[in-house]
Formats: sequence, C-alpha cells, structure tokens
Amino acid sequence: MATSEIKGVFWMGKDTLRVSAALFAQNRQRLCEGLRGVQDLQPRAIVVLQGGEQRQRYCTDTDEVFRQESFFHWTFGVTEADCYGALEVDTGKSLLFVPKLPESYATWMGKIHPREHFKEKYAVDEVHYTCDIADVLTNLQPSVLLTLRGLNTDSGSVCREASFEGISRFQVNNSLLHPVIVECRLIKTDMELEVLRYTNRISSEAHKQIMKHIKPGQKEYEMESLFQHYCYSRGGMRQTSYTCICGSGNNSSILHYGHAGAPNDKTIQGGDMCLFDMGGEYYCYSSDITCSFPANGKFSPDQKAIYEAVLRSSRMVLAALRPGVKWTDMHRLADRVHLEELVKIGILQGSVDDMLKVHLGAVFMPHGLGHLLGIDVHDVGGYPEGVERVDEPGLKSLRMGRLVQERMVLTVEPGIYFINHLLDGALASPTQSSFFNNHVLARFRNFGGVRIEDNVAVTADGVELLTCVPRTVEEIEAFMGDGHEKSFCPIVGGQKV
Ligand code: GLY
Ligand code: MN
Ligand code: MN
Repeated sequence: MATSEIKGVFWMGKDTLRVSAALFAQNRQRLCEGLRGVQDLQPRAIVVLQGGEQRQRYCTDTDEVFRQESFFHWTFGVTEADCYGALEVDTGKSLLFVPKLPESYATWMGKIHPREHFKEKYAVDEVHYTCDIADVLTNLQPSVLLTLRGLNTDSGSVCREASFEGISRFQVNNSLLHPVIVECRLIKTDMELEVLRYTNRISSEAHKQIMKHIKPGQKEYEMESLFQHYCYSRGGMRQTSYTCICGSGNNSSILHYGHAGAPNDKTIQGGDMCLFDMGGEYYCYSSDITCSFPANGKFSPDQKAIYEAVLRSSRMVLAALRPGVKWTDMHRLADRVHLEELVKIGILQGSVDDMLKVHLGAVFMPHGLGHLLGIDVHDVGGYPEGVERVDEPGLKSLRMGRLVQERMVLTVEPGIYFINHLLDGALASPTQSSFFNNHVLARFRNFGGVRIEDNVAVTADGVELLTCVPRTVEEIEAFMGDGHEKSFCPIVGGQKV
C-alpha cells in the first residue's frame, strides 16, 4: 500500500514524520471558537474556503507540481487540488468538496476514489462533489457564508476569496474571517510544533551534509542540489519553502541571490565566504535556515571577526527573546551589537548611539531581524490592524511589528553584509560618512556577507531553538575539518536556550 493511502495520517514512509489529521481538526475547532467570540456574528454562519487550483505552465498542458493554498491547508490538510471546504461555526461540522473526475482521469492519473476515501483520509464529517456545493450549502440553511479576503502584509497581495456557481444565492461576509484565522495561524499548537521541529531537523541535517561535502571548485548549484536531495530522499520533502540561496564570495551579500537571473551558478573559490539560506517543507510546513561558513572550512581573521559579530547579535537576541518583548526592540538590539562589533574591528569609529541616530545599522543589515514562520515561510500575522510598520531604514523591512507571544515560531536572522551600493551611499551621506574608516573598509569590499538564521518556538519564559547546526567558529571548523559530530545539539528535536 502506498503511504499516501493510510487513513487519517499524512506520512511519506520510512523515517519521515506521521502527521495526524487531528492537527487540522484542532485547527478547525480553534477557528470556530475564535469566530464564536466575534461580536455581531449571527448564528448559523458557515466558513467557505477554496483550495488551490492545479495550474499548467503558461499555455501548455504541462502540470506544475501542486502545492496547497496555505489557509486551506491549515484548515483541512488536503493535498489534492481544486477542492473547497466548509465549516459550520456553531457545530464545528466539517464538509469537504472534491472534484467529480471524468473517466479519462482513470487512464491518465490513476484511480478515481469514492467520496468515502476522502472522508476517511481527512477525517472530515462529510464529503461532497464541488459541482453540488451550492445545493449542499443551501440545505444547511446558513445565515451567512464567511469567505476569506484580506491583505498579506509581506507581499501586499490580497488572498483570493472563494467563489462558485450559485454563491449569489447566499449572503456573504468577506471581512470577518481573515483577522480571526490569521490570529489562529499565528499561535502554533503542539501538533504543529512537532511538524516544525521535524522540518528544522531534516533541513539542519541537509545543511550539515553540505558543510561536510563542499569543496572549492564546485558550483553553488551543486550545494542547492545536495540540499534538495537530502530533504527529499531522507525527509520526504518534495518542496523547499523558498528558492534556495547559495551565495559564495561576493554573492553572499546578495540578500535573495539564487533567482532566475543569478541561479546559484558561480564556481566556489577557496577563500570564499559562503551564505547558504535553504529550508525544506514537509506537508506545507516550512523551515528557513541560513548557515554561513568559509568554503575551505577555515575562517580567515576577517571572516572570523565578521562571523563572530553576527553570532554575538544572534545569541544576544535569543537570550532576550520571551513573551512580552517588542520584536522591533530585538531588531534594534541586533543593530546595536553589529555597530559595536564593527567599531572593534575598526571599520567604524565614533559613538554607537550617534550611529544609531542616523540608522547606520541598516547599511550593514538592510533587512529585518526575522519573521513569523509556519505554513508560509513568511507567515501571516505580522501586522494586524492597529500595528504600524516603523518607517525607518531596516525596521521598515521587518515583517512583524508586534509583541512576541508564547507559541509564535520566528526566525532570528541577523546579518552583516558589505553591499557596495549601500556603502557608497553611506560614504556620500553627510550624516553617515564620518563614522567610516575607509582604509579598513576597503579590505571588506568583496567580502560578501554573513547571516546566521535560526528558527525558534517561543515558550512561556524564553525560546526553544529548533535549528541544530554547528554555529560557533570552533564548531564549524571542527565539523568541516573531520566531519565528526560534536556536542552542539545535545537535545534531539529542540534545545532550550
Ligand atoms: N529565505 C528568506 C528569508 O530568510 O526570509
Ligand atoms: Mn532565510
Ligand atoms: Mn528568513
């Protein structure tokens, strides 16, 4: 029997993680409870979500690999395309709508499963065909259908609202659902944390494989390929959470390197600093890990100095993180540590307080300190209504503006980069140029950058570190040198900081 046939469990076989359909039943229950607390919501409301559609490449008949739409996945855990789901808010009754497939499907795509198959597979109360959705919902006599419409504060895009033939028969409210479901997604349940621990464990192991096998002379894309191969063959992860970033040398200063115009195709050189930012995705749950290390396994003095500057900010933030702290303050803390360290290295001179006043930290770390992580790598909920972005260099790129809460999962990803156009801008700025020691800076012009990115789950009094890779200079050099596992990961599946 194929592992995908096992009822009520998602499992890719072998040592991969088994995820119970109960995870999504609990999500639905939380959503109903949240909605019942919404003032003015009439009884007999029904949530209606539309799942992702199978797409083809442009005008061809070549299918793209399907990945479920994230809100639909969070609510139903359904892997198939072209479905709908409904949820009675008062009773919690769940209905799944699957496409009625043509006979030709059996020839080209395989067995056409009866509705009962999906009922067992996803542990929902009822399964119907999508062509019957309007009649089935009419029979439930809803007062209102709650559809999903709202802004993704990272992309600026609005999520696509459910629509189907016959929806005009119903009263529809498309504003109530979004803020409630986003708040639910923000707070991870124990079962969700278990999946995120798994994505982090497998992705951490994949990064370690790269550290073991990298050699100058190889292409950056060979490292991408190794990562993907490990995640898929050992972790059952068909997708990565985002395009792999495998920057070596100066490419390590390009924040989102690896795109189609710069496809990880440089040859790695002996003296290069590498910055590899990659995360595997399992059953739509993400990971987002960056390891920075020298290609030849031995830090030069300058590489060690910049790396340890970033490591210090990373560890200071991890030590300070707990429920109630402002995420913007964590970003400011990282900036301060970076500037202090850059003074020690001699690149900068003068008062760090004065540097902060002119936003010098953003010259070296133009991105935000980190973001929420979950079904999306940049997970939803960073700026609910009433929380405004801080309009300052660096902070304006921060993807979350709110207080840290228990059960949030966040990335902590400070970095120092030598980005020529930002450095040139700072040197031309009357308020910033006086802080630079030009002759020292010149040494770092083609250094690239260092990012250290860990994923953490916020606990009642601190964080659980989900990522498990060599982090100190000594750990990295020892690991790349002899490949033996050192004790940097004492507790499997998470480490208290
Ligand atoms: N890999 C994208 C990010 O770190 O947010
Ligand atoms: Mn990343
Ligand atoms: Mn990230």
